[in-house]
Amino acid sequence: MKYHGVLHRYGHLLDLPNYTQPISLLEGDTPLIPAARLVEQLGGAFELLIKFEGLNPTGSFKDRGMTAAISEAVGRGAKAVICASTGNTAASAAAYAARAGLKAVVLIPQGKVAAGKLAGAIAYGAQVVQIEGSFDDALAMVVEISEKHPIALVNSINPYRIEGQKSAAFEICDTLGKAPDWLCLPVGNAGNITSYWAGFWAYDELKGTGLPQILGVQAEGAAPLVLGHAVEKPETVATAIRIGRPARGEQALQAAEESQGQIIAASDAEILQMQKYLAQCGIWVEPASAAGLAGLAKEIKTGKVNLKGKRVVAVCTGHGLKDPEIIIGSMSKPETISPKLEALEEILFS
Ligand code: F0G
Repeated sequence: MKYHGVLHRYGHLLDLPNYTQPISLLEGDTPLIPAARLVEQLGGAFELLIKFEGLNPTGSFKDRGMTAAISEAVGRGAKAVICASTGNTAASAAAYAARAGLKAVVLIPQGKVAAGKLAGAIAYGAQVVQIEGSFDDALAMVVEISEKHPIALVNSINPYRIEGQKSAAFEICDTLGKAPDWLCLPVGNAGNITSYWAGFWAYDELKGTGLPQILGVQAEGAAPLVLGHAVEKPETVATAIRIGRPARGEQALQAAEESQGQIIAASDAEILQMQKYLAQCGIWVEPASAAGLAGLAKEIKTGKVNLKGKRVVAVCTGHGLKDPEIIIGSMSKPETISPKLEALEEILFS
């Protein structure tokens, strides 16, 4: 089958208005990569598959929801879109707006957006505005301005974002024939966990594919759903999920509860360790994307889950190329030698 993107493949299952005009970059159709070695490292006896969402056109899962949100906005005659973002939504909105010929405005927390994301938003031609505040401050501003002025909001408060992102759950069921036993993923503004749960639910109703238990993982310094209250000054190395007041927090808690799963927190050290383990399997993800598995590793270690014989899908939401500084900043400098064979032999074999 020739692949034409999320709306082409799954549009008939998504609640989108008739006037929607598809704008696509052939997003979705991302692989489920087996990671047997990582299972050994975690000391488990289960099947682990990585849904590598970093392989979407702008390098994150956001493209699934953005194709839907921008397609709806275009169909409705919008001329401009706006979002608040920790970076990935910004790059995705900018790319899809560019493709549709719309103006994109993105609000980002100053100094807290990884280089690959900021560069993306600029490259695709968005107007980038830095806020002397957090993502949560920026989100409050874009909600207000989109209510006052003719500029379409494309954050995941927008229901079409959720519709598009359901496609990831559909793909997993189509590839595996049924839902996995567990799904683990990072949680920031909580749009993605909401979408997965809605997607698995809809597919189960339609095709009897079953439901997974969902493990949502926040970063310890930005874990309002674990703490049970908003975090005024969220802080984490996983800047993508540096969010203290998730817009869809209630739905995230509901997804965890209804699926008999959980929302837990992982420390920055645990997240970075998992980023390393994944890279050792050939899968380089940005720090936030390792949070889901970091949480799973913790649950295994403390004996809180028994995964023996189970199938687990871990959603890795964004590509490592998005955040090169986190690696470069902590690495030792590469050796420099003269362009002579002896010099190479010296460092390799002596
Ligand atoms: N992983 C990555 C790489 C992200 O960029 C995000 C969210 C998440 C996980 C969490 O997803 O918000 O649906 O719970 N990034 C948003 C952004 C906030 O602006 O790019 P969520």
